[in-house]
Amino acid sequence: MEDSRKSHKPHCLVLSFPVQGHINPMLQFSKRLIHKGAGVTFVTTRFMSKTLHGLSSNPSIPLESISDGFDDGGIKAASSPEAYLERFWKIGPETLSELVERLISSGRPPSCIVYNSFLPWALDVAQKYGLVGAVFFTMSCAVSSVFYHCQKGLLEVPVRKQVLLPGMPPLEPQDMPSYVSDPESYPAYLGMLVGQFSNLDKVDWVLCNAVYELEQELVDWFMKVMPFRTIGPTVPSSYLDNRLQQDREYGLSIFQPEHDTTMKWLSTKPKGSVVYVSFGSVAELKIDQMQELAMGLKRSNRYFLWVVRSSEEDKLPQDYAKETAQKGLIVTWCPQLEVLAHEALGLFLTHCGWNSTLEALTLGVPMMAIPQWTDQPTNAKHIMDVWKMGLRPPVDERGVVRSEDIENCIREIMEGERGKEMRENAGKWRKITKEAVSEGGSSDRNIEEFVASLIDKL
Ligand code: UDX
Repeated sequence: MEDSRKSHKPHCLVLSFPVQGHINPMLQFSKRLIHKGAGVTFVTTRFMSKTLHGLSSNPSIPLESISDGFDDGGIKAASSPEAYLERFWKIGPETLSELVERLISSGRPPSCIVYNSFLPWALDVAQKYGLVGAVFFTMSCAVSSVFYHCQKGLLEVPVRKQVLLPGMPPLEPQDMPSYVSDPESYPAYLGMLVGQFSNLDKVDWVLCNAVYELEQELVDWFMKVMPFRTIGPTVPSSYLDNRLQQDREYGLSIFQPEHDTTMKWLSTKPKGSVVYVSFGSVAELKIDQMQELAMGLKRSNRYFLWVVRSSEEDKLPQDYAKETAQKGLIVTWCPQLEVLAHEALGLFLTHCGWNSTLEALTLGVPMMAIPQWTDQPTNAKHIMDVWKMGLRPPVDERGVVRSEDIENCIREIMEGERGKEMRENAGKWRKITKEAVSEGGSSDRNIEEFVASLIDKL
């Protein structure tokens, strides 16, 4: 085994949790590893791997799969999140071990497993075969810190009052990840998120899709307690160069983007005039929220591009698309990076998923934050109060943002003084995030150091 390892460049198995918001950043990170001289095999679950259009035909990133126990339906086929995770935790390590053994015997031995932090058992598999273990966090440092403190018993759950944690602004309960402020709603997920930190005393590297300069004080703190490195933003380099070009090469989407319709529509709109609305790949909005949002967009009288996944379409007011056709375009999925990079964009109304947040910071688009669950409230807090790149409108007693607040917020950001400040900040963050992943930047150096350490071990 040693001999065949010596003759190869380092070979990383990059193992992603089977969700779009995790696959995207881990795929982009894979490309950076390749750029720095490593080989990569991308791994996700069997069910998810069937939906990754295009990736399987790309020779530079071979695709392999393991089983979560639900090869025909993924998490939707499980009776509950608990049942899904229990089965995945049993079958995942077995099938990952089988994959490692198959790769070793076929002459492509891995030297490292870069595993999604949601799958901590992958570290045991790495260590069983003498491989380097690198955990990859797809959420912000702030969110990771909240779960770290829970795991260490330093943060009492549920959080009911203001919390002060190192390197962060004071967080109110509504700024906390939903699993911490409202643990009863998804107890299995709270366990999984806290479990991310259960075995980090044994890990070789902790890689985080974050940018040193965005969360500097907190990253410095993390680096004192674990081998922590920031490697983000995982936005394709073509967008960092401001070239309007879609990253289609690895088929990053599990949904089919309505590319031509969207871009053609955008190209007819004046500079800075369009509100882009998307709630990512997972969130399911309350019907009241969909209706208020629909009304708010209509009242604002602005152009809008709204991504409504097919499973959410029934929640729109009747005939809404037809009635608003002069001003709006509703699509089921779009090429988001290309949209955010378009000069017609004026505002991103977002659920504050971490990828969307990083993409908007990197492409300099002000945000209206309407977080739904998981890490999104904490990201919203940072967008508004730390990076000053957006506003978070209030919610009413139903937990819903009303149409008049949506309308006011659109106006404030697109016409008001605070919007002006955000557009000024946009230039600053765009420059900083771009520099982080450019040659010699903070993230670039960390990736280089990581790959160099793997090369040293060959
Ligand atoms: C999930 C969680 O919901 C989120 O809170 C967490 O931070 C990451 O995992 P998701 O809800 O899908 O992610 O949101 P986000 O992190 O923003 O990722 C969505 C990705 O899909 C982005 O990369 C975005 O560019 C892409 N996207 C979204 C499209 O390409 N087209 C669309 O129409 C919408």
